[in-house]
Order: sequence, then structure tokens, then C-alpha cells
Amino acid sequence: MNKLKVILITGASVVLMMSCFPKASKVIQSLPVESKEQIMAQYSSAQLEEGRTIFTNSCDNCHKLKEPGSKTPEQWNKTVKRMIPRAKLSDEQGKLVRAYLIANSKES
Ligand code: HEC
Repeated sequence: MNKLKVILITGASVVLMMSCFPKASKVIQSLPVESKEQIMAQYSSAQLEEGRTIFTNSCDNCHKLKEPGSKTPEQWNKTVKRMIPRAKLSDEQGKLVRAYLIANSKES
């Protein structure tokens, strides 16, 4: 195999791997770990309701919907940042889903 081929194949597999494990955007990654109270103070009930709709529509494609009350805010914060790119949500949608889940999370 010549060098060019090796470079091309390596490059292609890196691109392929990156698309299999997408990272959340910088906006989503940089969101701080907020408490339930901080979330409730920042988002209106209409926004949280919208988050619930996005959650029920987008988060059951690969597995059953997980109970918001099954995790603490810290746990949701971690998991949802991994799941937002999988569900192909925009930053705005991702923020709302995350807010909804934290607002309904288990007491930490
Ligand atoms: C493209 C498929 C896909 C979509 C869409 C998806 N998930 Fe997942 N999810 C997975 C897979 C695969 C696992 C198990 C492996 C893992 O944990 O990474 C998982 C695991 C989980 C877990 C358990 C793991 C943990 O860390 O507790 C939770 C909770 C979860 N998903 C929540 C969500 C939420 C919320 C959404 C919507 C924003 C979502 N998922 C959308 C594929 C998906």
C-alpha cells in the first residue's frame, strides 16, 4: 500500500469514528451543572413543557423513555449531554430537554 492510500484510509476512518460518537456542541457542553431551583428560575413553564414534548418525541428512538425522576440533576447533566447529539437536537432543543429533565429530576 502506498503512503497516500494509508493517509486517505486513516483520514476516512477518523471521520467515520467521529460521526459515530458525536460530541455535543460547545454551547451544550459549556452549560453549568445547575440545581433544580436554578433551572426553575431560568425557564418558564411553557419552555419546560416544550422540553417535555421534545423529550417524548426524540428520546425513545433507540430505547424506552427514561424516567426524569430516576436521576439527580448532576446525573442528568452528564447523560443528557451525551444523548443530545445522538437525538440530533439543536442547541435550543437540547437546552429545553435538559431543563425539563433537571426540573423533574430526583432530589440529590
Ligand atoms: C441514536 C440513539 C439514541 C437516542 C436518540 C437517545 N439515546 Fe439514550 N442511549 C442510547 C444508547 C445506545 C444508550 C446505552 C449506551 C450508553 O449509555 O451510552 C443510551 C442510554 C441512555 C441512558 C442510560 C445511560 C446513563 O448514562 O444513565 C439514558 C438516561 C438516556 N440514554 C437518555 C436519553 C435521552 C434523555 C435522550 C433524548 C435527548 C436519548 N437518550 C436519546 C442511544 C440513544
